Amino acid sequence: MAEPPFGLLAELTHRCPLSCGYCSNPVELVRREAELGTARWCEVFDQARALGVLQVHLSGGEPLARGDLPELVEHAAGLGCYVNLVTSGLGLTARRLADLAARGVDHVQLSVQDARPGEADLIAGARAFDHKLAAAGLVRELGLPLTVNAVLHRLNLDRVDGIIALAERMGAQRLELANTQYYGWALRNRAALLPRPDQLARAAEVVAAARERLAGRMELVHVVADYHEAHPKPCMHGWGARQLTVAPDGDVLPCPAAGVIPDLGVENVRDRPLADIWHHSRAFNAFRGFDWMREPCRGCPRKELDFGGCRCQAFQLTGDAANTDPVCSLSPHRAEVDRVLALEPEPAAPVRRGFGR
Ligand code: SF4
Ligand code: FES
Repeated sequence: MAEPPFGLLAELTHRCPLSCGYCSNPVELVRREAELGTARWCEVFDQARALGVLQVHLSGGEPLARGDLPELVEHAAGLGCYVNLVTSGLGLTARRLADLAARGVDHVQLSVQDARPGEADLIAGARAFDHKLAAAGLVRELGLPLTVNAVLHRLNLDRVDGIIALAERMGAQRLELANTQYYGWALRNRAALLPRPDQLARAAEVVAAARERLAGRMELVHVVADYHEAHPKPCMHGWGARQLTVAPDGDVLPCPAAGVIPDLGVENVRDRPLADIWHHSRAFNAFRGFDWMREPCRGCPRKELDFGGCRCQAFQLTGDAANTDPVCSLSPHRAEVDRVLALEPEPAAPVRRGFGR
């Protein structure tokens, strides 16, 4: 039997007031009519808690787009779960946040798009920058812990120092500087988002210096640009190992992007209990552990560190999810990543995330 999951990523909705082209949500977004209702989400939380889940990340899209968010927060918190609200900050008022905090939100993760208002709003596709500053102020006033998350790419990497300064100004305890991971909309926009090596090198220096300067005040998490690395990321800390995702329509996924892998046998909370899906479904067992691995991963000493990388990336770039992540320098498909890196940068702006595009 697999160990129980620690976290549940509850993608409550794909609706969102922003339309960032780096979004990792699937290109085919789930429409409002197909979203799970309040009672069903509460059942999902009950089942997740019974299965062992201790952290619930309420995400999307924008979870504030759900009118029943207060009930969902109260229910998850009432089960004893640590509740993290992952938000753009748009739609967060003092009243709403005070209500959500009273019902049990433990932590807020706020996205920022860039250090400067003009560039940030261009990426967001909305006038969002000032709302985010205000939202951070509200979180601070209530004394809730705040993580700021910035997705990095060619269009904002040169201002990583400004993004760090912005997170300080917002009063964040933690800043995640996450280079874009290429799934969903981000994969579609890869040519417009891929950074240059010189940008990455400079940003790494800035982050290292800031980490030293901010030690003890703000934790800095730096997610590297994996295409530019020699070894892949330990995606999800292994397939079906620590966390599960429930999509807005109730599909239960081993990772948020797993829907791209064909014939995985993804199941839905409307049809089967979560514990059954976690332990016994074909989707969750497809790449669990090490037995599914082929060479070079099978005999590689790094497999317990990186689990062979990312299954979704292996599928997207090689057509077979059981292959070694082609980011790995030992992968026979590494040339595909190098080919992408050698392409001329795309000067056009990223396509905006949205329904029916
Ligand atoms: Fe990781 Fe597989 Fe590459 Fe070894 S061969 S470093 S296990 S991806
Ligand atoms: Fe799906 Fe990495 S994103 S396994």
